[in-house]
Amino acid sequence: MLQPKIKPPVVIAIDGTSASGKSTNSKLVAKALGFVHVDTGAMYRTLAWYCLKQHVDVQDAKAVAALCRRWKTTLKCADGNAYLVVDGYYPAKEIRTAEVSAAVPHVAAVPKVREWMKKAQRECIKFGSLVMEGRDIGTNVFPETDFKYYLDAKLEERSRRRAADGIRENLAARDQRDSQRAVAPLMIPLGAKVINNSQMTSEQTSGMILADIKKRKAERDKAQGRSQKAEVR
Ligand code: DC
Repeated sequence: MLQPKIKPPVVIAIDGTSASGKSTNSKLVAKALGFVHVDTGAMYRTLAWYCLKQHVDVQDAKAVAALCRRWKTTLKCADGNAYLVVDGYYPAKEIRTAEVSAAVPHVAAVPKVREWMKKAQRECIKFGSLVMEGRDIGTNVFPETDFKYYLDAKLEERSRRRAADGIRENLAARDQRDSQRAVAPLMIPLGAKVINNSQMTSEQTSGMILADIKKRKAERDKAQGRSQKAEVR
């Protein structure tokens, strides 16, 4: 009997600098495609928040790694978003404070933490096709995906966007820490489409990503069709 073809889940990787529009655009793309949205920065922020709550010094890599080994978490998926719940609680508001923003790059630089996060992030595929945003999705978490995007915008524009959200932050310092850490630093993934959206609306940015996904998917389907034909011969 002919087995029905089950399509494997697809991952759209959206990486980029802080305040480059990753969240807004990932959510728009996920909604348009009916995929699950995963904000991996929120996962790192959740650990940073938990360190502060447990009075663990975020600059002490060993202590952070030890806490990450023993914290009690589950991956949840609700309303099209996948996220980490710790001790049965998702600290949605708490992870957006200035204190957590200052702590998170230290936590994100710990190799054992990155290993733990990569495993949890890859596990999200159990929820179906994903739009995953972060700093190392195309380079490290799902390097095998054909759909990689890298967003950026001028520093003044990104600072203006953060300020409009009521957040004052030294974005240049955070980007520098994220780009210069030893493990999985922020960089443009090989084969990624780079979009500088300084002068673009989120509709234009997400529209450009969606059009590119369509194009890459058609190219991939064509290549797969060719190799299947070759196998039959
Ligand atoms: O996207 P964000 O500002 O919420 O990310 C919070 C921090 O986590 C930021 O300093 C970069 C880091 N991060 C990371 O190192 N790798 C990811 N995949 C996502 C975020």
